[in-house]
Amino acid sequence: MAMIIDGKKISQQIKEELKEKVALQKAKGKTGALAVVQVGADPASSVYVRNKKNACAFIGIESLAYELPEETSEEELLSLIAELNGKEKVKGILVQLPLPAHINEDKVIQAISPEKDVDGFHPQSVGAMVIGEKGFLSCTPAGIIQLLKRSDIEICGKNCVIIGRSNIVGKPMALLMLRENATVTITHSKTQNLAEVCKQADILVVAMGKPQFIGAEYVKEGAVVIDVGIHRDADNKLCGDVKYGEVEPIASAITPVPGGVGPMTIAMLMNNCVQSIEEG
Ligand code: GUN
Repeated sequence: MAMIIDGKKISQQIKEELKEKVALQKAKGKTGALAVVQVGADPASSVYVRNKKNACAFIGIESLAYELPEETSEEELLSLIAELNGKEKVKGILVQLPLPAHINEDKVIQAISPEKDVDGFHPQSVGAMVIGEKGFLSCTPAGIIQLLKRSDIEICGKNCVIIGRSNIVGKPMALLMLRENATVTITHSKTQNLAEVCKQADILVVAMGKPQFIGAEYVKEGAVVIDVGIHRDADNKLCGDVKYGEVEPIASAITPVPGGVGPMTIAMLMNNCVQSIEEG
């Protein structure tokens, strides 16, 4: 029987801590707003955006919503970002991804001022993370580190295998695990003998984007399994990249979907916003 890592509870704790910090900041006259930009009306993005606004309201920071139509041009979006970069009150800018195909995401990410890059996606934020300098950390990987630490799971010296090499999860996850002194392996769609490699993991982070793909044959007895995937199964129920029913009995700890990694991403976004307000 694995310990179920309760991301909902841990994220709530973090948001309570942040709420107190925001109150202290307000008492010192330090305030700021998060600008949340959505282009188009992708239903999953709308849910995430709503949750982000609700989290801002909970911890006590203002959110400014920019809901732009699908046909917004790249130029128009870049001009909004330039305007937000220049607004004193805006301390964080979040552009919900994915963007419509006619807009270059990299160009948009690079247009956000690194001082307001609360997603941690700007090349300057990524570079700072690589060399261990101060900067905004990518929210999902930072949330996973918090899940492990707050569940008293040792990272130092452990074999950590990550499935997936995206800029948003896989790559920054590897760097943060390395920062915590894990021995890190990144695997991906071209990796040979994936199951064999994964079976070496003390901590297995699954971010491959394939519904219920990882079964017992990928997991060592007693491993910690972190499932970053979020999908709908045939019955329209949320599920992850991991076959939960099969893996849970052999893992020592596991994150559920929903209620594992998902809520942590937003908690860490709020953490970055509070950090940005603190730094003025
Ligand atoms: N789309 C999926 N995850 C994220 C995220 O963490 N930030 C943004 N901006 N868009 C996303």
